[in-house]
Amino acid sequence: MTVTIDRAGDIAFVTVDNPPVNALSQAIRQALWDAAEALDRDASIRAVILLCAGRTFIAGADVSEFGKPPQPPHLPDVVARIEAAQKPWIAAIHGAALGGGFELAMGCRFRLALDTASVGLPEVTLGIIPGASGTTRTPRLAGVEAAVDLVTTGKPVKAPKALTLGLIDAVVTGDLREAARAFAAQALSLPLPPPVSARPIATKDSAWWDEQRKAIAKRAKGEVAPLHALDCLRAATDLPFAEAMAKERATFLALRASDQAAALRHIFFAERAAPRPASLKDVPPLPLTRAAVIGGGTMGAGIVAALREAGLPVTLIERDAEALSRGLSTLSGIFDAAVARGKLTPEQAQARIAGVTGSTDYATLADTDLVIEAVFEDLAVKRAVFAELGRHCRADALLATNTSYLDPRRIAEGLPNPARFIGLHFFSPAHVMKLLEIVPTPETAPETLATGFALARLLGKIPVQAGICEGFIGNRILKRYRAEAEALLRQGTPIAAVDAAMRAHGFAMGPFEAQDLGGLDIAFLQREGARAAGQHVPETLGDLLVRAGRKGQKTGGGWYDYTPGNRSPQPSAATAALLAPHVTAGEALSPEAIATRLTGAMAAEGRAILAEGVALRPADIDLVKVHGYGYPRWRGGPMFGSGVR
Ligand code: 3HC
Ligand code: NAI
Repeated sequence: MTVTIDRAGDIAFVTVDNPPVNALSQAIRQALWDAAEALDRDASIRAVILLCAGRTFIAGADVSEFGKPPQPPHLPDVVARIEAAQKPWIAAIHGAALGGGFELAMGCRFRLALDTASVGLPEVTLGIIPGASGTTRTPRLAGVEAAVDLVTTGKPVKAPKALTLGLIDAVVTGDLREAARAFAAQALSLPLPPPVSARPIATKDSAWWDEQRKAIAKRAKGEVAPLHALDCLRAATDLPFAEAMAKERATFLALRASDQAAALRHIFFAERAAPRPASLKDVPPLPLTRAAVIGGGTMGAGIVAALREAGLPVTLIERDAEALSRGLSTLSGIFDAAVARGKLTPEQAQARIAGVTGSTDYATLADTDLVIEAVFEDLAVKRAVFAELGRHCRADALLATNTSYLDPRRIAEGLPNPARFIGLHFFSPAHVMKLLEIVPTPETAPETLATGFALARLLGKIPVQAGICEGFIGNRILKRYRAEAEALLRQGTPIAAVDAAMRAHGFAMGPFEAQDLGGLDIAFLQREGARAAGQHVPETLGDLLVRAGRKGQKTGGGWYDYTPGNRSPQPSAATAALLAPHVTAGEALSPEAIATRLTGAMAAEGRAILAEGVALRPADIDLVKVHGYGYPRWRGGPMFGSGVR
């Protein structure tokens, strides 16, 4: 870690070098303070340029310090010190100026940024609010509306947009240091603008604030930081600067010590640790330049889209010409939807589809590095596919199955060179969902496993290694969760009360409405398959509904009734009648008690999974539930929530 000062004529350059992201540790804050003191004393200097070494400008406070007591100098004081410097400071931004990094930039008299840079205040994503004037200086630069948007969503903006909003003063290209020097020379020839804290701030009427509050509360689903951020922004418009700063600081410190912030930090660090497990540090992955997907159904098409997004050319194999054309049109549908939502230009969509070769002939896979199988969930069908792959693919090509419930060891039986076989369990829709369960068999080679993780990095997914068991980590816990939810119904808790309790807990949906959306038949067929194979699988309440033709929204009813064109669940007399013989009236449970029962069941299954070695770390289970199953991020996942760290 260093903060160095060098000089070019009457301009000083203060360079922060604290890899990997120039986070503002205590030592950096102190060094910046000392630099401001030294440069104020240096009569030869007329302006100071603040810039960073490495891949980014300062990405914020050092999050790893948040679990400990704050150490001086505190960041708001450093920002104020720089703003009060006798020579103007100019922030020269590349990469990202985030959180405390952008707050420091706002303490400078000017901000300029490379056109590729971005700026933002992502604190709410860590369960806190900006703690060094993000809520007080931002509205003075960009106006209250833009500030509310930036601070309460935490979403960064690109430099050109930041310029339009007034967050920065110039966008530059090429050599940032030279551009900043030229900017400084020009700025010194003109009268200086007032420091940001002294600039005027327009207020809004209470109706506007009330409207914001309602919209944010709806979006936040129990997360408290965005609402506190809004309160501080309002205070910034109502109170003198110093008083608003005091409120911001007090709120920041209180939230920093909160359970929600601890949970969000846990997920933040778990997400960053997941793609590079220490155990694979010295294992080089195999090169990935050409991929293939077998089966162009729901999952296959999504996986192709994800591979294309990462730039890999893909061959899609289907069982016949008709199924192939269906698969390719599903794929076009994905790209068309992305164009309609403004995520892709028509040209980009065209290029994505042009990179896909459809075929029914396995001989086209002779030069493929990676094949992902996503055909029907049927052992014989999958084995037949892998027999073809064994015949036609290179001996070192990685062969993966996307099975949800089958035993990957049985799928791989008979495969020549099973060391390159692995399970890669994507989640639906595969081009959207971030989670990837990686399931090695006992024969999977370390290079194959490392390549699975490399693929996840390439696709921007969050990989979690899972051991072999029914449902791996995610679906196994889901099964236990659903069973516990059914147990509540059997004890007399109304269906709608269970769903409402889980929504109140922070889930987007409760367990029963989620099943109606996805279809009850998938899990039913899986249970029936197990029964047919001689396993003892007790009858579930869901089985009763499916047998009565109630498979969810697609049949007009499942746990609830639905009217055509309306997806909102209505209590169902038919369901009540079907379940009545299995329900005994019990004591009414509070929403909290319901949520405790269900999250407790998930955690109990998680503990079993850990004990069996199916998951390697509690944090992996948390990532699976947060990224694959809608577990509220701000609760940190079932394991974190139950104290298993
Ligand atoms: N503090 C401590 N460590 C951090 C960090 C931070 N603010 N930001 C990133 N890191 C670490 C990561 O844990 C990771 O460590 P590892 O290599 O040991 O796993 C390493 O830096 C690289 O991080 P990424 O993998 O995320 O790197 P990318 O290049 O993909 O992304 C980034 C760079 C966009 C800067 C991204 O790291 C990021 O978004 N960081 C968080 C930014 C943030 O939330 N800032 C606000 C902090 S709170 C604050 O500033 C409070 C203030 O208002 C007082
Ligand atoms: P799907 O029924 O939508 O698609 C399967 C596709 O495979 C069909 O297009 C079919 O024509 C094709 N196919 C069948 N036999 C083939 C063969 N011999 N050769 C080439 N293509 C063949 O099924 P879905 O939902 O896409 O599931 C595929 C796999 O992914 C299954 O193993 C499933 O368990 C798994 N999975 C499904 C998830 C989901 O949410 N649907 C989530 C995660 C995994």
